[in-house]
Amino acid sequence: MGLTALCPGTFDPVTNGHLDIIERASETFETVAVAVLENPAKRPMFTVEERIAMLEKVCADMSGVEVTSFDGLLVDFARRRSDAVIVKGLRAVSDYEFEIQMAQMNHRLAGVETLFMPTNPSWSFLSSSLVKEVARFGGDVEGLVPDEVRARLHDRLEEGR
Ligand code: PNS
Repeated sequence: MGLTALCPGTFDPVTNGHLDIIERASETFETVAVAVLENPAKRPMFTVEERIAMLEKVCADMSGVEVTSFDGLLVDFARRRSDAVIVKGLRAVSDYEFEIQMAQMNHRLAGVETLFMPTNPSWSFLSSSLVKEVARFGGDVEGLVPDEVRARLHDRLEEGR
């Protein structure tokens, strides 16, 4: 049996940058487990159920991709799947500094390996936080997130006005 790529994140909301990594992981690994962090302390814009629903919709055509949630330590979730390696996208050197710390800690805690995938340069400036900020101030995020996500973002912001 092949390895599972564990793609963890907050995904609040999923962006085209996340999707690029998930899709490329699905071309390399037999299974991709997209793991959505359930952490209300981060005060996400979307509930974990909403984030999962958006991911399921936009990953529907990718083979071997499943979407699930986790709370607590990522390694505890990873340990339940003995065949899993963590796959993370790296946008820039600034990402690397924190990502290497987390990768080393996860390896130290549970021997779980992390593989880094360079982000497609088209998305190296993109983050969920920036997308939310741009949308909040009326900027157009077309082409940065899937259309369904853009619509939900718009609806959520309208609800808050
Ligand atoms: O999309 P994000 O917010 O950059 O994802 C970060 C995430 C969820 C991968 C990271 O915060 C995480 O793994 N959180 C779970 C808690 C944990 O395991 N912390 C110790 C990391 S060494």
